[in-house]
Amino acid sequence: MAKTRSHVRRIGVLTSGGDAPGMNSAIRAVVRASVHHGIECLGIRRGYNGLINGDVVELKAKDVNGLITRGGTILYTARCPEFNTEEGLQKAANSIKYLGMDGLIVVGGDGTFRGARDVSRYGVNVVGIPGTIDNDVACSNYTIGFDTACNTAMHAIDKLRDTMQSHERCSIVEVMGRNAGHLALYVGIACGATAMLLPELPYNFDKDVAEKIRGGRIRGRTHHLIIAAEGVGHIDELATSIKEETGMDPRVTILGHIQRGGSPTARDRVTASRMGEMAVRTLLEGKRNRVIVISNREMVDLDMDEALAMEKGLQISMLNAAYILTQI
Ligand code: F6P
Repeated sequence: MAKTRSHVRRIGVLTSGGDAPGMNSAIRAVVRASVHHGIECLGIRRGYNGLINGDVVELKAKDVNGLITRGGTILYTARCPEFNTEEGLQKAANSIKYLGMDGLIVVGGDGTFRGARDVSRYGVNVVGIPGTIDNDVACSNYTIGFDTACNTAMHAIDKLRDTMQSHERCSIVEVMGRNAGHLALYVGIACGATAMLLPELPYNFDKDVAEKIRGGRIRGRTHHLIIAAEGVGHIDELATSIKEETGMDPRVTILGHIQRGGSPTARDRVTASRMGEMAVRTLLEGKRNRVIVISNREMVDLDMDEALAMEKGLQISMLNAAYILTQI
């Protein structure tokens, strides 16, 4: 594709919030697209803290060699309470002006986009790329890191199943997702769980857990897997109730931050690469305050304010499938 003519000469890129596999692939794409279009790219370190403190590095093509395969983020990431204050935003806007940045690309979740929207009020042009293992960014069907996290959790649970099967046990596995159940729902289906407990749907212990375990035992099932999203909470109480009601002695496994690590899957590498490239093009085309999203299987850019006003629930067809598949 031809180089885009634009007044943009230098841009910045940062990662913020919880890291997600594929963030590095996005950084690589932003840098390579910048080089292609003949503009400079600065890496801002430690999320919005780097903007406030002027913690930046120039990124050239050689700095992102081999990055497509690496989990985490070479720019580090952080949550930045100071960015919620007028003073913090003003300092960041001053840094952006001082550093001569004509645009800023941010990779993260809704909190990251709210920060970008707030600093855009100071005249800074921003573009967001959704990156979080939670897949809870309302404006996009997909967020970078979700597929890798699903696979990481699935492989860990497959290992757990070997020991569950040997001991004829019940395992309760807590997966991440903050207040959202997307990860738990996908992982639950992928692992053939007995039950999936999701923060979006209140559950009835007798009907949704105990009866399923009892029914499975009658049909000859010797081990049982309950997937609980972290947003459901009370996982130890759940284990106690299972013990009291079924006589099984469940083991609790909290997969935790392992789900955020590892080399990104092909889906995450490709999505991140395409979003990174498109984010640079969006800035060069002079569009203001956009988010790159997947909508109806297409990659498009949306207005940042509109994107932040959207809401997202669990996919109904996925819930229906999970319901049917856990009935016997
Ligand atoms: O948003 C990503 C996420 O991993 C959530 O699933 C989880 O609730 C949270 O971040 C954990 O955050 P921290 O890294 O601060 O413990």
